[in-house]
Amino acid sequence: KIKACLFDLDGVLVDTAKYHYLAWKRLANDLGFDFTEQDNERLKGVSRMRSLDILLEIGGKSLTDAEKLDVATKKNVWYVDFIEKMPKDEILPGAKEFLEELRQAGVKIALGSASKNAMRILERLEITGYFDAIIDGTKVEKAKPDPEVFLKGAESLGLSAEECVVFEDAEAGVEAAIAGGMKVVGVGDPEILSKADMNINSLAEMSVKRLEYFN
Ligand code: G6P
Ligand code: MG
Repeated sequence: KIKACLFDLDGVLVDTAKYHYLAWKRLANDLGFDFTEQDNERLKGVSRMRSLDILLEIGGKSLTDAEKLDVATKKNVWYVDFIEKMPKDEILPGAKEFLEELRQAGVKIALGSASKNAMRILERLEITGYFDAIIDGTKVEKAKPDPEVFLKGAESLGLSAEECVVFEDAEAGVEAAIAGGMKVVGVGDPEILSKADMNINSLAEMSVKRLEYFN
């Protein structure tokens, strides 16, 4: 029986995926190569430093560890700049309504995000109060597709993996949920997220009733 929903943040609850993309693209261009939206799919859900390694691999560049830290910091400054200007209505369609419905129904809510900026974003959107547990990039060692972030979420809620449904927009995130033994709803392109148990375009299609599918 499903007792909790575990949400990825970027691309599921809020439209920040585009800001990550713009900041990475700017960095790639600075380093002298192009970076497409298709390339960007490989970075979704992946930690900041791992994303940088993939980006450098795409551009055929190698940097020292010190240079890597430096450019990752630059990317984050650009990203945070976007976030700070982000209008509150960039919360994705249906997200707030679904969180509200879950709360009313007594279904637990957790965040499972690789982002170290997660708290800042939840605060900006004024949705921090909905979460019974928040696991973000400051609390995990291993990046998705490792299931650590979701397993820690379930553990904080005192629930087992089978009692949780994960909502993900990234292939790495869908894989992480499956590796953790959880059900997973793919939010976005069903071709990219073909391993998910259910596919939706946005949380506007979701309801407590639809969760019964997993029981
Ligand atoms: C999320 C996003 C990734 C991002 C990662 C780390 O998983 O989907 O694109 O790289 O978080 O985010 P951060 O805000 O810590 O750089
Ligand atoms: Mg995401």
